[in-house]
Amino acid sequence: MVTTRVAVFASGGGSNFQALIDRFAGGTAGVDLACLVASRRTAGAIDRARAAGIPVAVVPDRSEEEEERPREAEFLDGTLSRHGIDLIVLAGYLRLVPAPIVTSYWGRIINIHPALLPAFGGPGMYGTRVHASVLERGARVTGVTVHFVDEAYDRGPILAQWPVPVLEDDTVEGLASRVLEVEHRVLPDVVAALAGGDVWLGSDGRVRWRRPWFGGEEFKLVRRGEDRR
Ligand code: GRF
Repeated sequence: MVTTRVAVFASGGGSNFQALIDRFAGGTAGVDLACLVASRRTAGAIDRARAAGIPVAVVPDRSEEEEERPREAEFLDGTLSRHGIDLIVLAGYLRLVPAPIVTSYWGRIINIHPALLPAFGGPGMYGTRVHASVLERGARVTGVTVHFVDEAYDRGPILAQWPVPVLEDDTVEGLASRVLEVEHRVLPDVVAALAGGDVWLGSDGRVRWRRPWFGGEEFKLVRRGEDRR
């Protein structure tokens, strides 16, 4: 079986990264989690990588200054080449991926977002801000989106989505945790599908699935207090 070598990019706690570790431990399903790229030294995801024996690279320069971007691109390019990376998964990565990396890995970078894009996405829409906006606007349904990455935040072609109902008395924390639970199911599924050649980005910029994706007992809507793993 051909193995897809995956780099996960993360800035935070890394629970989505953990879901990938749990699903693909030992190189199952043709996926090898080859390295973690952390945007900061304090990212909790780093401990998860160490515990799983996955190499870690920390982006050295956190500057958003335009003139610093080439150095960051060079660092990422070197890291990705050294680990022979086929697929990049952004799982709570709070930095914009430099344009040269987006170009080199076109159709091979995905991101997970905790809402149904194109709603509640874009610059500044991350973490609890997303869920707070959903509640503030009175949206009745939110959810999870996995999309290919282009040069802008949360904009590329959508691979998969799954809804999460907003409850009458929802809180940011409650909603975030129900959405996260769904993220932990959708992201590994999409990575497995990409590795297995079941989905890809067509040359016309549209996502193609070989088989219908919405399947499986795993993907029941998550309601409060039930359907927990
Ligand atoms: C997730 O909600 C993900 O959708 C978003 O950032 C969060 C990361 O959470 N992009 P974690 O670090 O994987 O726990």
